[in-house]
Amino acid sequence: MYSHLFSELSIQHLTLKNRLTMAPLYLGYAGEGGTVSSMIIDHYRLMAQSGVAMVVVENATVDYPTGSGSDRTLRADTDDNLEGLTALARTIKAEGALACLQINHAGRFAHAAAEPLAPSAVQTFSRLPRALTITEIEGIIEKYADAAKRAQNAGFDMVELHGGTGYLLAQFLSPRTNQRNDEYGGNLENRYRFPLAVVKRVKDRVGTMPVGYRFLADEWLPDGWHLEGACQFAKTLTATDIAYISVMGGTYESFFLPEIVEKSKQEGFMLHLAATVRKAVDVPVIAAGRMATGSFADKAIADGKTDLIGLARVLWADPQWPQKVRDGREDKILHCTPDCKDACMQMVMQGKPAYCARWPAEKVKAWKAKFT
Ligand SMILES: Cc1cc2nc3c(=O)[nH]c(=O)nc-3n(C[C@H](O)[C@H](O)[C@H](O)COP(=O)(O)O)c2cc1C
Repeated sequence: MYSHLFSELSIQHLTLKNRLTMAPLYLGYAGEGGTVSSMIIDHYRLMAQSGVAMVVVENATVDYPTGSGSDRTLRADTDDNLEGLTALARTIKAEGALACLQINHAGRFAHAAAEPLAPSAVQTFSRLPRALTITEIEGIIEKYADAAKRAQNAGFDMVELHGGTGYLLAQFLSPRTNQRNDEYGGNLENRYRFPLAVVKRVKDRVGTMPVGYRFLADEWLPDGWHLEGACQFAKTLTATDIAYISVMGGTYESFFLPEIVEKSKQEGFMLHLAATVRKAVDVPVIAAGRMATGSFADKAIADGKTDLIGLARVLWADPQWPQKVRDGREDKILHCTPDCKDACMQMVMQGKPAYCARWPAEKVKAWKAKFT
């Protein structure tokens, strides 16, 4: 049953034991100041025990506080966290999964920063970021490489560059958020310059360690970055020897639009994006977004729409998803359903550790009493 889902796949020199990966999911479980807490260790142990082949740990900042989404964003910018990151990688690998750390600069969405930085001073919600200087841009490229090297030193098998969710790498690509008129803005070649420089510097620093890319295929905003241009960028990216492309859509400025909220309720709501990107590239592609059932996920691979499945809330809502699917007990899966009105997202937006509405009622009650 589901022979596609449970077949191996190589990512460069590493072998994934099946096609299931945990997609990065920030839940606010790091300690305040981005430390590796016991809560985050326990959480990732459970995720790795699920039987997925690879766990991609949520975004960790390359620059604190300027690049941090929140004060509970993991820090990968300091050796003070090396011991904690080492424990995190060891925990995941001890459960038989490959460990990958996603690294990120949040740019204009850096809520831990007093003054957010961005390619251009384009307002987002009520905040106006300051445009980065060339010297600052060059400094940030180096910080990505430092963080990637730190992940490698901590024992992670791979790193993933967070080019999704409208964070800094994506901000340079989008004509909405990049209105620069120097060599980092304007035409496509210039807008590609920052993300390509980051990939190159990171790869130079980590040698043969595979480097993946979380890829924004569409901002879902009228004047934004769209799938057609994204496919061109994906081709350019593969020329850098990127290990895989993990496709997603949307940014904080589109996630909560009524039509996007509606669309996001459907099973596999981002699969068409992954399928289109996959046609443009020759590296493995990961598709996430309510990959809710084994039958749907297996068919997505069989139909050539994706190589790997990314499970984020789907896996968190039921860490036994892979086993239940493999053992033919799909009817017992606890599904992440939209009727909780994104309780997890609401919590993390308030800077609090998230609960899942599918947890037992007593656990949710105790969690709310502690954290809300
Ligand atoms: C609360 C929350 C936190 C997320 N954190 C990250 C993150 O740190 N990095 C990332 O690339 N995507 C992040 N995502 C996006 C997920 O990886 C995934 O693409 C999305 O949730 C759809 O998959 P799912 O339906 O299995 O949850 C997050 C999503 C949610 C809801």
